[in-house]
Amino acid sequence: MKFNTKTIHGGQKPDPAYGAVMQPIYQTSTYAQSTPGGHKGYAYSRSHNPTRTALENAIASLENGTYGLAFASGLAAIDAVLKLLQPGDEVVSTNDLYGGSYRLFTKIYEDLGIKFHFVGMQNAKNIEHYITPDTKLIWVETPTNPMMNIIDIVSASGIAKKHKVLLAVDNTFATPYLQNPLDLGADIVMHSVTKYLGGHSDIVMGALVVKDKELADRLYFVQNASGAICGPQDAFLALRGIKTLHIRMQRHCENGKAVAQYLDDHPRIKNVYYPGFTTHPNHNIAKSQMKDFGGMVSFTTTGNNYQEAINIIERLKIFTLAESLGGVESLAGHPASMTHASIPKEERENLGIVDSLIRLSVGIEDVDDLIADLRQAIG
Ligand SMILES: Cc1ncc(COP(=O)(O)O)c(C=O)c1O
Repeated sequence: MKFNTKTIHGGQKPDPAYGAVMQPIYQTSTYAQSTPGGHKGYAYSRSHNPTRTALENAIASLENGTYGLAFASGLAAIDAVLKLLQPGDEVVSTNDLYGGSYRLFTKIYEDLGIKFHFVGMQNAKNIEHYITPDTKLIWVETPTNPMMNIIDIVSASGIAKKHKVLLAVDNTFATPYLQNPLDLGADIVMHSVTKYLGGHSDIVMGALVVKDKELADRLYFVQNASGAICGPQDAFLALRGIKTLHIRMQRHCENGKAVAQYLDDHPRIKNVYYPGFTTHPNHNIAKSQMKDFGGMVSFTTTGNNYQEAINIIERLKIFTLAESLGGVESLAGHPASMTHASIPKEERENLGIVDSLIRLSVGIEDVDDLIADLRQAIG
């Protein structure tokens, strides 16, 4: 089945009870049993719920995986992966990553005895310098949030396999429409479903997909034991969002490209971070592992100061100033004070997350309106 068909049919069948084409919302915590253990595969909704199962199968199908697991948020999904580790274990992580992932790693798991090495992985060879006998996991985010760095998943996977450690890829920015990390050798693919998969800024949810049964069993154990599952209503909304993922992503990519080009040509804009530019340092890797370049664009202004960035953001009328990304509507954010505020200032600035950096999630509105909005805001 091709991707554009999988978004609509992947892992889903009409409901056996009445033939409902859309997966019903099984808003129930428990299920009648004829005798203890005599149920139809569902005993309690923390463990399994038919609406969640349909979503988990759909996401697994989009990522060419075998097992999907849905969680209460993207961070709950990441948390489940980290719960596979023991005190003393080490993780080699992308240094430029979502601030909340960094906070989870450094403020919770470091205190529990896990050591993290934050590494610039634009040259994937750098990963290998940080591998020790205690390394259990390589954590890759690509494209990175918000600097749009690209990490070579095939090379990272070669290193992971050589040292027998797990490779997990946060595929939130790319989505399975653009990039399938499991096909490139990753063991675990993670999504903040909150973003493009949901696509309508109306849910908070996360997911993991794997191919290996033993790994799936270990993650399922954590999902059930810790209980950070998503509810059936949200699973339904995510399923509905996924049905248009391919069409939305096509438009996000077209609009993202046009906005990036507009900004790059603007005399008051200094740097534009967008992997679709041939001048992007890892453009060729992006081209080889992604189908297109997505709808995320970050930029700095020539004035290079906090107030100028804030003035631009506050003048925007169609782009909404908000956290998050990946919805149909365009959003603008100021990473240094919003999504990445939990990263210490010096580390942030070393990564390029300066006070003048603005991050755009380019939506699927008419691109002429988006560019006109940026024109009036930047001046
Ligand atoms: C790349 C990335 N990973 C993970 C997350 C966390 O997801 P959630 O907000 O659904 O917990 C986010 C949220 O912004 C993100 O951008």
